[in-house]
Amino acid sequence: MEKTSINIALAGFGTVGTGLQDILQNNRDWIKKRLGKDINIKKILVKDLNKVRTSIPDPHTIFTNNLEDLTEDPDLDIVVELIGGKTTAYEIISRALESGKSVVTANKALLAEKGPELFNLASKNNLGLYYEASVAGGIPIVQTLKESLAGNRIKSLTGILNGTANFILSEMTHNQIDYDSALGEAQELGYAEAEPSLDVDGFDAAHKLTILIRLAHGEDYPLHMLPIKGIRGIDPYDIGKAKDFGYQIKLLAQVKEKSGSLQAGVFPALIQNDHMLAKVDGPFNAVLLEGNAVGPIMLYGQGAGDLPTGSAVLSDIMSLVNKETGYNNTGFVDSNLPYANMLQAEHTVFKHYFRFTVKDRPGVLSILSGIMGEHNISIAQVVQKQESEGQFVPVVFLTHSAQEKDVQNALQEINELSFVKAPAIHYVIL
Ligand code: NAP
Ligand code: HSE
Repeated sequence: MEKTSINIALAGFGTVGTGLQDILQNNRDWIKKRLGKDINIKKILVKDLNKVRTSIPDPHTIFTNNLEDLTEDPDLDIVVELIGGKTTAYEIISRALESGKSVVTANKALLAEKGPELFNLASKNNLGLYYEASVAGGIPIVQTLKESLAGNRIKSLTGILNGTANFILSEMTHNQIDYDSALGEAQELGYAEAEPSLDVDGFDAAHKLTILIRLAHGEDYPLHMLPIKGIRGIDPYDIGKAKDFGYQIKLLAQVKEKSGSLQAGVFPALIQNDHMLAKVDGPFNAVLLEGNAVGPIMLYGQGAGDLPTGSAVLSDIMSLVNKETGYNNTGFVDSNLPYANMLQAEHTVFKHYFRFTVKDRPGVLSILSGIMGEHNISIAQVVQKQESEGQFVPVVFLTHSAQEKDVQNALQEINELSFVKAPAIHYVIL
Protein backbone atom coordinates (compact mmCIF):
# COMPACT_ATOMS: atom_id res chain seq x y z
CA MET A 1 0.00 0.00 0.00
CA GLU A 2 1.32 3.47 -0.89
CA LYS A 3 2.52 5.53 2.10
CA THR A 4 0.42 8.53 3.07
CA SER A 5 3.25 10.35 4.80
CA ILE A 6 6.97 10.79 4.23
CA ASN A 7 9.24 10.63 7.26
CA ILE A 8 12.18 12.97 7.19
CA ALA A 9 14.94 13.74 9.69
CA LEU A 10 16.65 17.10 10.02
CA ALA A 11 20.31 17.16 10.96
CA GLY A 12 20.51 20.73 12.24
CA PHE A 13 17.81 23.03 13.59
CA GLY A 14 19.42 26.45 13.18
CA THR A 15 18.56 29.19 10.68
CA VAL A 16 17.72 26.89 7.77
CA GLY A 17 16.32 23.97 9.78
CA THR A 18 13.83 26.16 11.65
CA GLY A 19 12.95 27.96 8.40
CA LEU A 20 12.12 24.63 6.78
CA GLN A 21 10.05 23.57 9.80
CA ASP A 22 8.08 26.84 9.66
CA ILE A 23 7.29 26.42 5.96
CA LEU A 24 6.22 22.81 6.49
CA GLN A 25 3.86 23.94 9.25
CA ASN A 26 2.47 26.99 7.45
CA ASN A 27 2.07 25.36 4.02
CA ARG A 28 1.02 21.88 5.19
CA ASP A 29 -2.25 21.77 3.20
CA TRP A 30 -0.62 23.17 0.08
CA ILE A 31 2.19 20.61 0.21
CA LYS A 32 -0.35 17.79 0.64
CA LYS A 33 -2.23 19.11 -2.38
CA ARG A 34 0.91 18.93 -4.51
CA LEU A 35 2.31 15.64 -3.20
CA GLY A 36 -0.72 13.73 -2.02
CA LYS A 37 1.31 13.01 1.12
CA ASP A 38 2.24 14.68 4.39
CA ILE A 39 5.85 15.47 5.21
CA ASN A 40 6.52 14.52 8.79
CA ILE A 41 9.67 15.61 10.67
CA LYS A 42 10.26 12.47 12.71
CA LYS A 43 13.64 13.33 14.23
CA ILE A 44 15.93 16.35 14.63
CA LEU A 45 19.66 16.04 15.32
CA VAL A 46 21.21 18.96 17.24
CA LYS A 47 24.42 19.58 19.11
CA ASP A 48 22.93 20.93 22.35
CA LEU A 49 19.81 19.13 23.60
CA ASN A 50 19.35 21.69 26.38
CA LYS A 51 19.20 24.76 24.15
CA VAL A 52 15.94 26.72 24.44
CA ARG A 53 14.23 26.55 21.01
CA THR A 54 11.92 29.34 19.83
CA SER A 55 10.73 27.42 16.78
CA ILE A 56 8.54 24.59 18.06
CA PRO A 57 8.19 21.42 15.99
CA ASP A 58 5.23 19.03 16.17
CA PRO A 59 4.95 17.38 19.61
CA HIS A 60 5.81 13.90 18.29
CA THR A 61 9.19 15.05 16.83
CA ILE A 62 12.16 13.48 18.65
CA PHE A 63 15.30 15.54 19.36
CA THR A 64 18.58 13.64 19.50
CA ASN A 65 22.32 14.29 19.54
CA ASN A 66 23.20 10.82 18.25
CA LEU A 67 23.61 10.72 14.49
CA GLU A 68 22.94 6.97 14.35
CA ASP A 69 19.36 7.73 15.39
CA LEU A 70 19.08 9.21 11.89
CA THR A 71 21.28 7.05 9.73
CA GLU A 72 20.15 3.70 11.22
CA ASP A 73 16.40 4.35 11.41
CA PRO A 74 14.71 2.19 8.70
CA ASP A 75 11.51 4.21 9.04
CA LEU A 76 13.11 7.41 7.63
CA ASP A 77 12.72 8.18 3.91
CA ILE A 78 14.93 11.28 3.60
CA VAL A 79 17.73 12.79 5.69
CA VAL A 80 18.14 16.59 5.44
CA GLU A 81 21.65 17.75 6.35
CA LEU A 82 21.64 21.35 7.67
CA ILE A 83 24.45 21.44 10.19
CA GLY A 84 27.21 22.77 7.89
CA GLY A 85 30.91 21.97 8.21
CA LYS A 86 32.74 19.16 6.51
CA THR A 87 33.22 16.42 9.13
CA THR A 88 29.98 15.37 10.84
CA ALA A 89 28.01 16.54 7.81
CA TYR A 90 30.07 14.23 5.56
CA GLU A 91 29.49 11.34 7.95
CA ILE A 92 25.74 11.95 8.07
CA ILE A 93 25.38 12.20 4.30
CA SER A 94 27.54 9.19 3.45
CA ARG A 95 26.02 6.99 6.15
CA ALA A 96 22.48 7.98 5.18
CA LEU A 97 23.20 7.12 1.52
CA GLU A 98 24.83 3.83 2.50
CA SER A 99 21.76 2.92 4.54
CA GLY A 100 19.36 3.55 1.65
CA LYS A 101 18.09 7.07 2.39
CA SER A 102 18.05 9.92 -0.08
CA VAL A 103 19.65 13.14 1.18
CA VAL A 104 18.98 16.87 0.83
CA THR A 105 21.72 19.30 1.82
CA ALA A 106 22.49 23.04 1.77
CA ASN A 107 26.17 22.43 2.42
CA LYS A 108 28.10 24.17 -0.39
CA ALA A 109 31.49 23.89 1.32
CA LEU A 110 31.19 20.11 1.56
CA LEU A 111 29.76 19.67 -1.96
CA ALA A 112 32.45 21.88 -3.50
CA GLU A 113 35.10 19.55 -2.09
CA LYS A 114 33.45 16.16 -1.89
CA GLY A 115 30.58 16.47 -4.38
CA PRO A 116 31.88 13.98 -6.98
CA GLU A 117 32.52 11.30 -4.34
CA LEU A 118 29.10 11.77 -2.74
CA PHE A 119 27.27 11.82 -6.10
CA ASN A 120 28.94 8.53 -7.00
CA LEU A 121 27.84 7.04 -3.70
CA ALA A 122 24.28 8.24 -4.30
CA SER A 123 24.28 6.85 -7.85
CA LYS A 124 25.71 3.52 -6.72
CA ASN A 125 22.81 3.16 -4.29
CA ASN A 126 20.25 4.56 -6.76
CA LEU A 127 19.39 7.40 -4.37
CA GLY A 128 18.97 11.16 -4.60
CA LEU A 129 21.43 13.71 -3.27
CA TYR A 130 19.80 17.09 -3.89
CA TYR A 131 21.27 20.52 -3.11
CA GLU A 132 19.16 23.42 -4.42
CA ALA A 133 19.83 25.48 -1.25
CA SER A 134 23.60 25.17 -1.56
CA VAL A 135 23.84 27.94 -4.19
CA ALA A 136 22.17 31.35 -3.91
CA GLY A 137 19.70 30.40 -1.15
CA GLY A 138 16.15 30.75 -2.42
CA ILE A 139 17.06 31.24 -6.10
CA PRO A 140 16.26 28.02 -8.03
CA ILE A 141 19.48 27.96 -10.03
CA VAL A 142 20.37 24.28 -9.48
CA GLN A 143 17.08 22.99 -10.84
CA THR A 144 17.19 25.58 -13.64
CA LEU A 145 20.55 24.32 -14.90
CA LYS A 146 19.81 20.64 -14.27
CA GLU A 147 16.36 20.54 -15.83
CA SER A 148 14.95 23.73 -17.35
CA LEU A 149 18.09 24.59 -19.39
CA ALA A 150 19.31 21.00 -19.81
CA GLY A 151 19.31 21.26 -23.63
CA ASN A 152 21.47 24.41 -23.73
CA ARG A 153 25.22 24.81 -23.87
CA ILE A 154 25.93 27.49 -21.25
CA LYS A 155 28.26 29.99 -22.93
CA SER A 156 28.72 32.15 -19.83
CA LEU A 157 27.47 32.37 -16.26
CA THR A 158 28.15 35.32 -13.97
CA GLY A 159 26.84 35.40 -10.44
CA ILE A 160 26.68 37.63 -7.41
CA LEU A 161 26.71 34.63 -5.08
CA ASN A 162 27.74 36.10 -1.74
CA GLY A 163 25.21 38.40 -0.09
CA THR A 164 27.60 39.59 2.59
CA ALA A 165 30.21 40.81 0.13
CA ASN A 166 27.51 42.40 -2.03
CA PHE A 167 26.06 44.17 1.01
CA ILE A 168 29.49 45.55 1.97
CA LEU A 169 30.16 46.82 -1.58
CA SER A 170 26.65 48.33 -1.87
CA GLU A 171 27.03 50.18 1.44
CA MET A 172 30.46 51.52 0.43
CA THR A 173 29.12 52.59 -2.98
CA HIS A 174 25.84 54.21 -1.94
CA ASN A 175 26.64 55.48 1.57
CA GLN A 176 30.33 56.38 1.12
CA ILE A 177 31.46 54.41 4.19
CA ASP A 178 34.72 52.51 4.57
CA TYR A 179 35.24 48.76 4.46
CA ASP A 180 35.45 48.17 8.22
CA SER A 181 32.23 50.11 8.91
CA ALA A 182 30.38 48.23 6.15
CA LEU A 183 31.63 44.87 7.45
CA GLY A 184 30.56 45.88 10.98
CA GLU A 185 27.04 46.66 9.68
CA ALA A 186 26.90 43.31 7.86
CA GLN A 187 27.87 41.55 11.09
CA GLU A 188 25.29 43.48 13.14
CA LEU A 189 22.55 42.59 10.66
CA GLY A 190 23.55 38.92 10.82
CA TYR A 191 24.65 38.68 7.15
CA ALA A 192 28.35 38.06 7.77
CA GLU A 193 29.71 35.14 9.70
CA ALA A 194 31.48 35.96 13.02
CA GLU A 195 34.68 34.99 11.17
CA PRO A 196 33.87 36.60 7.82
CA SER A 197 36.74 35.27 5.72
CA LEU A 198 34.55 32.77 3.82
CA ASP A 199 32.42 35.70 2.66
CA VAL A 200 34.93 38.51 2.10
CA ASP A 201 37.85 36.46 0.78
CA GLY A 202 35.70 34.90 -1.95
CA PHE A 203 35.69 31.28 -0.73
CA ASP A 204 31.93 31.01 -0.19
CA ALA A 205 31.31 32.29 -3.73
CA ALA A 206 33.97 29.87 -4.98
CA HIS A 207 32.23 26.91 -3.31
CA LYS A 208 29.00 27.90 -5.05
CA LEU A 209 30.71 28.48 -8.42
CA THR A 210 32.31 25.02 -8.28
CA ILE A 211 28.83 23.51 -7.89
CA LEU A 212 27.40 25.61 -10.74
CA ILE A 213 30.26 24.71 -13.11
CA ARG A 214 29.43 21.01 -12.68
CA LEU A 215 25.78 21.66 -13.40
CA ALA A 216 26.41 23.93 -16.39
CA HIS A 217 29.23 21.98 -18.02
CA GLY A 218 29.15 18.41 -16.71
CA GLU A 219 32.80 18.77 -15.73
CA ASP A 220 34.56 19.12 -12.41
CA TYR A 221 36.68 22.25 -11.94
CA PRO A 222 38.50 21.45 -8.70
CA LEU A 223 38.12 24.12 -6.04
CA HIS A 224 41.87 24.32 -5.39
CA MET A 225 42.45 25.18 -9.08
CA LEU A 226 39.94 28.05 -9.12
CA PRO A 227 41.46 31.58 -9.09
CA ILE A 228 39.89 33.35 -6.09
CA LYS A 229 40.21 37.01 -5.11
CA GLY A 230 37.96 38.60 -2.48
CA ILE A 231 37.13 42.12 -1.34
CA ARG A 232 38.89 42.28 2.04
CA GLY A 233 40.05 45.82 2.76
CA ILE A 234 38.79 47.26 -0.53
CA ASP A 235 39.63 50.97 -0.63
CA PRO A 236 36.74 53.52 -0.78
CA TYR A 237 38.93 55.54 -3.16
CA ASP A 238 38.61 52.86 -5.84
CA ILE A 239 34.87 52.52 -5.26
CA GLY A 240 34.55 56.30 -5.72
CA LYS A 241 36.80 56.39 -8.75
CA ALA A 242 34.88 53.54 -10.39
CA LYS A 243 31.70 55.55 -9.74
CA ASP A 244 33.20 58.61 -11.45
CA PHE A 245 33.74 56.48 -14.56
CA GLY A 246 30.15 55.14 -14.42
CA TYR A 247 30.93 51.76 -12.86
CA GLN A 248 30.27 49.81 -9.67
CA ILE A 249 32.57 47.26 -8.09
CA LYS A 250 30.94 43.86 -7.49
CA LEU A 251 32.31 40.52 -6.28
CA LEU A 252 31.60 38.19 -9.20
CA ALA A 253 31.81 34.45 -9.71
CA GLN A 254 32.16 33.67 -13.39
CA VAL A 255 32.61 30.78 -15.80
CA LYS A 256 32.86 31.21 -19.57
CA GLU A 257 33.31 28.68 -22.34
CA LYS A 258 36.32 29.68 -24.50
CA SER A 259 37.12 27.44 -27.50
CA GLY A 260 36.56 24.23 -25.57
CA SER A 261 38.17 25.45 -22.33
CA LEU A 262 36.59 26.90 -19.21
CA GLN A 263 37.67 30.30 -17.94
CA ALA A 264 36.50 30.54 -14.34
CA GLY A 265 37.17 32.50 -11.18
CA VAL A 266 35.91 34.67 -8.33
CA PHE A 267 37.05 38.29 -8.41
CA PRO A 268 35.93 41.87 -7.75
CA ALA A 269 35.20 43.65 -11.02
CA LEU A 270 33.98 46.99 -12.30
CA ILE A 271 30.64 46.72 -14.09
CA GLN A 272 28.86 49.54 -15.86
CA ASN A 273 25.95 51.16 -14.00
CA ASP A 274 23.50 50.03 -16.67
CA HIS A 275 24.62 46.37 -16.46
CA MET A 276 21.84 44.15 -15.04
CA LEU A 277 24.09 42.92 -12.23
CA ALA A 278 24.78 46.53 -11.13
CA LYS A 279 21.15 46.72 -9.95
CA VAL A 280 21.68 43.83 -7.51
CA ASP A 281 22.13 45.65 -4.21
CA GLY A 282 22.47 44.77 -0.54
CA PRO A 283 22.43 41.11 0.50
CA PHE A 284 20.64 39.99 -2.68
CA ASN A 285 22.09 37.41 -5.09
CA ALA A 286 21.70 37.03 -8.85
CA VAL A 287 22.85 34.74 -11.62
CA LEU A 288 23.07 36.00 -15.20
CA LEU A 289 23.67 33.31 -17.78
CA GLU A 290 23.66 32.86 -21.53
CA GLY A 291 22.46 29.61 -23.08
CA ASN A 292 23.12 28.93 -26.75
CA ALA A 293 19.41 28.35 -27.39
CA VAL A 294 17.59 30.34 -24.72
CA GLY A 295 19.88 33.41 -24.84
CA PRO A 296 20.35 35.53 -21.71
CA ILE A 297 18.51 34.73 -18.47
CA MET A 298 18.85 36.38 -15.08
CA LEU A 299 17.64 34.96 -11.78
CA TYR A 300 17.49 37.33 -8.81
CA GLY A 301 16.48 36.85 -5.18
CA GLN A 302 17.49 36.25 -1.60
CA GLY A 303 20.67 34.23 -1.29
CA ALA A 304 20.30 33.44 2.40
CA GLY A 305 17.94 33.51 5.36
CA ASP A 306 15.61 31.02 7.05
CA LEU A 307 12.59 31.07 4.73
CA PRO A 308 14.31 31.60 1.33
CA THR A 309 16.82 28.83 2.05
CA GLY A 310 14.16 26.63 3.66
CA SER A 311 12.08 27.09 0.50
CA ALA A 312 14.92 25.66 -1.61
CA VAL A 313 15.40 22.71 0.79
CA LEU A 314 11.69 21.94 0.66
CA SER A 315 11.66 22.00 -3.15
CA ASP A 316 14.32 19.26 -3.08
CA ILE A 317 12.36 17.17 -0.58
CA MET A 318 9.26 17.46 -2.74
CA SER A 319 11.20 16.58 -5.92
CA LEU A 320 12.55 13.46 -4.23
CA VAL A 321 9.11 12.43 -3.08
CA ASN A 322 7.82 12.91 -6.61
CA LYS A 323 10.55 10.76 -8.12
CA GLU A 324 9.59 7.12 -8.12
CA THR A 325 12.81 5.89 -9.69
CA GLY A 326 15.78 7.08 -11.74
CA TYR A 327 17.44 9.72 -9.58
CA ASN A 328 19.63 12.10 -11.48
CA ASN A 329 21.89 14.08 -9.17
CA THR A 330 24.20 15.87 -11.54
CA GLY A 331 21.93 16.52 -14.51
CA PHE A 332 24.09 14.20 -16.66
CA VAL A 333 23.81 10.49 -17.45
CA ASP A 334 27.30 9.84 -16.17
CA SER A 335 27.70 10.97 -12.56
CA ASN A 336 31.45 10.39 -12.76
CA LEU A 337 32.33 13.82 -14.11
CA PRO A 338 35.62 14.27 -15.98
CA TYR A 339 37.99 17.12 -15.17
CA ALA A 340 37.30 20.34 -17.05
CA ASN A 341 39.79 21.55 -19.64
CA MET A 342 40.86 24.61 -17.63
CA LEU A 343 42.02 27.78 -19.37
CA GLN A 344 45.12 29.00 -17.57
CA ALA A 345 44.58 32.27 -15.72
CA GLU A 346 47.48 33.91 -17.61
CA HIS A 347 45.56 33.52 -20.88
CA THR A 348 42.37 35.20 -19.69
CA VAL A 349 41.46 38.48 -21.37
CA PHE A 350 39.70 41.41 -19.68
CA LYS A 351 39.62 45.18 -19.72
CA HIS A 352 41.32 46.59 -16.61
CA TYR A 353 41.28 49.34 -14.00
CA PHE A 354 44.72 50.27 -12.61
CA ARG A 355 45.46 52.80 -9.88
CA PHE A 356 49.10 53.81 -9.46
CA THR A 357 50.41 56.07 -6.71
CA VAL A 358 53.24 58.00 -8.32
CA LYS A 359 55.33 61.18 -8.04
CA ASP A 360 53.74 63.99 -10.02
CA ARG A 361 56.63 65.03 -12.25
CA PRO A 362 57.35 65.33 -15.97
CA GLY A 363 57.61 62.10 -17.93
CA VAL A 364 55.88 59.80 -15.41
CA LEU A 365 52.70 59.31 -17.45
CA SER A 366 54.66 58.60 -20.60
CA ILE A 367 56.80 55.98 -18.82
CA LEU A 368 53.68 54.26 -17.43
CA SER A 369 51.89 54.26 -20.78
CA GLY A 370 55.12 53.21 -22.54
CA ILE A 371 55.44 50.12 -20.33
CA MET A 372 51.81 49.24 -20.94
CA GLY A 373 52.28 49.66 -24.69
CA GLU A 374 55.34 47.38 -24.63
CA HIS A 375 53.12 44.73 -23.00
CA ASN A 376 50.32 45.05 -25.59
CA ILE A 377 48.03 46.96 -23.21
CA SER A 378 46.07 49.70 -24.91
CA ILE A 379 44.84 52.60 -22.75
CA ALA A 380 41.19 53.72 -22.96
CA GLN A 381 41.13 56.53 -20.33
CA VAL A 382 43.48 58.20 -17.84
CA VAL A 383 42.67 60.42 -14.86
CA GLN A 384 45.14 62.07 -12.52
CA LYS A 385 44.18 63.81 -9.28
CA GLN A 386 45.43 67.39 -9.23
CA GLU A 387 48.07 68.04 -6.53
CA SER A 388 51.09 70.33 -6.30
CA GLU A 389 53.93 69.17 -8.49
CA GLY A 390 56.36 66.76 -6.82
CA GLN A 391 53.72 65.16 -4.54
CA PHE A 392 52.52 61.55 -4.77
CA VAL A 393 49.22 61.37 -6.64
CA PRO A 394 46.83 58.61 -7.69
CA VAL A 395 46.69 58.04 -11.45
CA VAL A 396 43.89 55.82 -12.73
CA PHE A 397 44.03 54.03 -16.11
CA LEU A 398 41.17 52.17 -17.78
CA THR A 399 42.44 49.84 -20.50
CA HIS A 400 41.06 48.02 -23.51
CA SER A 401 41.14 44.21 -23.43
CA ALA A 402 44.49 42.75 -22.42
CA GLN A 403 45.89 39.32 -21.57
CA GLU A 404 46.46 38.56 -17.88
CA LYS A 405 50.06 37.51 -18.58
CA ASP A 406 50.80 40.93 -20.15
CA VAL A 407 49.03 42.71 -17.30
CA GLN A 408 51.04 40.89 -14.64
CA ASN A 409 54.32 41.57 -16.46
CA ALA A 410 53.50 45.27 -16.89
CA LEU A 411 52.43 45.67 -13.26
CA GLN A 412 55.57 43.97 -12.01
CA GLU A 413 57.72 46.34 -14.07
CA ILE A 414 55.75 49.41 -12.97
CA ASN A 415 55.74 48.44 -9.28
CA GLU A 416 59.54 48.42 -9.32
CA LEU A 417 59.88 51.99 -10.67
CA SER A 418 61.50 54.48 -8.28
CA PHE A 419 58.67 57.04 -8.58
CA VAL A 420 55.97 54.46 -7.67
CA LYS A 421 55.01 54.67 -3.99
CA ALA A 422 52.82 51.56 -3.50
CA PRO A 423 51.90 48.43 -5.44
CA ALA A 424 49.26 49.08 -8.09
CA ILE A 425 45.58 48.56 -7.28
CA HIS A 426 44.09 46.45 -10.03
CA TYR A 427 40.60 45.27 -10.98
CA VAL A 428 39.14 43.75 -14.10
CA ILE A 429 36.28 45.50 -15.91
CA LEU A 430 33.47 43.43 -17.41
P1 NAP B 1 23.18 27.25 12.03
O1 NAP B 1 22.12 28.29 12.22
O2 NAP B 1 24.50 27.49 12.63
O3 NAP B 1 22.59 25.88 12.63
C1 NAP B 1 23.35 24.71 12.71
C2 NAP B 1 22.54 23.61 13.38
O4 NAP B 1 23.30 22.41 13.31
C3 NAP B 1 22.21 23.87 14.84
O5 NAP B 1 20.92 23.39 15.14
C4 NAP B 1 23.25 23.03 15.60
O6 NAP B 1 22.79 22.50 16.82
C5 NAP B 1 23.45 21.87 14.62
N1 NAP B 1 24.79 21.29 14.70
C6 NAP B 1 25.97 21.91 14.42
N2 NAP B 1 27.00 21.04 14.56
C7 NAP B 1 26.45 19.86 14.93
C8 NAP B 1 26.98 18.57 15.23
N3 NAP B 1 28.29 18.33 15.18
N4 NAP B 1 26.12 17.60 15.57
C9 NAP B 1 24.79 17.83 15.64
N5 NAP B 1 24.22 19.02 15.35
C10 NAP B 1 25.05 20.02 15.01
O7 NAP B 1 23.42 26.93 10.50
P2 NAP B 1 22.54 27.39 9.24
O8 NAP B 1 22.77 28.84 8.99
O9 NAP B 1 21.14 26.92 9.39
O10 NAP B 1 23.29 26.63 8.03
C11 NAP B 1 23.10 25.26 7.80
C12 NAP B 1 23.69 24.90 6.44
O11 NAP B 1 22.99 25.60 5.43
C13 NAP B 1 25.16 25.23 6.25
O12 NAP B 1 25.76 24.25 5.44
C14 NAP B 1 25.12 26.57 5.54
O13 NAP B 1 26.27 26.82 4.75
C15 NAP B 1 23.92 26.35 4.65
N6 NAP B 1 23.26 27.57 4.19
C16 NAP B 1 22.86 28.48 5.10
C17 NAP B 1 22.20 29.62 4.67
C18 NAP B 1 21.69 30.63 5.65
O14 NAP B 1 21.04 31.59 5.24
N7 NAP B 1 21.93 30.49 6.93
C19 NAP B 1 21.99 29.82 3.31
C20 NAP B 1 22.42 28.85 2.39
C21 NAP B 1 23.04 27.72 2.85
P3 NAP B 1 22.37 23.46 18.07
O15 NAP B 1 21.07 24.09 17.64
O16 NAP B 1 22.21 22.52 19.22
O17 NAP B 1 23.49 24.45 18.21
N1 HSE C 1 27.29 33.68 3.89
C1 HSE C 1 26.50 33.55 2.70
C2 HSE C 1 26.38 34.90 2.03
C3 HSE C 1 25.09 33.07 2.98
O1 HSE C 1 26.74 35.94 2.60
O2 HSE C 1 25.88 34.93 0.89
C4 HSE C 1 24.87 31.62 2.78
O3 HSE C 1 25.23 31.17 1.52
